[in-house]
Amino acid sequence: MKVQIPRGTQDILPGQAKIWQWLEEKMREVTNKYHFEEIRTPIFEHTEIFARGVGDTTDIVQKEMYSFQDRSGRDLTLRPEGTAAVVRSFVENKMYGDPNQPVKLFYIGPMFRYERPQSGRYRQFVQFGVEALGSQDPAIDAEVISLAMNIYREAGLKNVHLVINSLGDKESRAKHREALINHFRPRIGEFCEDCQNRLEKNPLRILDCKVDREHELMKTAPSILEYFNDESKVYFDKVCQYLTDLGIEYTIDSTLVRGLDYYNATTFEIMSSAPGFGAITTLCGGGRYNGLVEEFGGPETPGIGFALSIERLIAALEAEQVQPDIHNGLDFYVVALGERAKDYSVKLLSELRNNGFSADRDYTGRKMKAQLKSADRLHAKFVVIIGEDELDGGIVQLKNMETGEQKEIKLATFIEEIKQFAV
Ligand code: HAM
Repeated sequence: MKVQIPRGTQDILPGQAKIWQWLEEKMREVTNKYHFEEIRTPIFEHTEIFARGVGDTTDIVQKEMYSFQDRSGRDLTLRPEGTAAVVRSFVENKMYGDPNQPVKLFYIGPMFRYERPQSGRYRQFVQFGVEALGSQDPAIDAEVISLAMNIYREAGLKNVHLVINSLGDKESRAKHREALINHFRPRIGEFCEDCQNRLEKNPLRILDCKVDREHELMKTAPSILEYFNDESKVYFDKVCQYLTDLGIEYTIDSTLVRGLDYYNATTFEIMSSAPGFGAITTLCGGGRYNGLVEEFGGPETPGIGFALSIERLIAALEAEQVQPDIHNGLDFYVVALGERAKDYSVKLLSELRNNGFSADRDYTGRKMKAQLKSADRLHAKFVVIIGEDELDGGIVQLKNMETGEQKEIKLATFIEEIKQFAV
């Protein structure tokens, strides 16, 4: 039997898991301030949800989905992203009828993509994402972007920058699409097979091709910005104005099209510019997906959101050498010497825990010196020492590990006394 983790996945071991918890807590705090509420959808959905939602021509749907048939022959897929699933749930649960609009949701959970693993790219990764459904106000675009920027700031990152674009509305996109087809068609034979397939289906996606990135036609391709109608232009200008008002710096990049089909109007990515960060610098991506709710059978409802992976956020923390402010959490380590003291410590530990303290002890029969070493390694704030003599005298020794100070405390009043100072 191969005792080995699957390629592209990782174990989050206890020390590392503390950083994850710390980040997840920060994310919950920030989203709470912006008044987004948590939604939890299944890890797998009907394959159709992603094929239709994310788009048939995307890399995700064509090459990266973990799809399978269950025992009844249903086509299911481990979710490669959260938006399509959230929109499915929004429609199914008729959230469009909620009197509080827009509906502001967030999620944290594992996503699965069969990609070539490399630094910052996994086959199972955890996304934190938000979706705001039911508002076509540029202020919500700015709010969603500022939420993402705030998460990075709260996590302690300094070297992040925002890149933003707009894909315009339907009318602008139709004109741009035509211009793109005319631009690429005469020389489409020089492009990869994927691009050739995309020419008629979704020419915008050619701009996102990793294979033909350096082709000269890529650099001279018509920019969507030139095809904006007045509405699209006013909307995008307003989003940019709000970002400026919020003190968020940004770069406009008209080639930012994103790899999922549901986008229109505002799109954005947040990149790391930390020296030493890996080749993949995108930390977060998002944008508008007006029309997706209708695609799933719901009423006309605009939407905008983003997702970021915790893996890439942690990689950015490491590149910037940010030390998360994590407390070990062990208040008391009980050192028990002798059988009677060990028996007594069972009760003492339980009392400490019931009174709100974290407490642990030795379970491997080590000598006092080794037990004290353990307490030190675990960064215990206090050590309680109990031996035969202490039990006979109805006392314990309490050692403050920070100051080294040691004193006797009566067992009868132990909990009352420690409550005075061990908080
Ligand atoms: P996405 O650009 O495919 O967008 O992914 C968003 C983020 O997920 C990326 O910026 C990156 O941080 C992370 N990510 C993607 N693939 C991997 C991977 N293989 N390993 C590690 N991290 C990865 C979406 O998923 C959209 N649903 C975002 C969105 C929400 N748009 C609107 N609402």
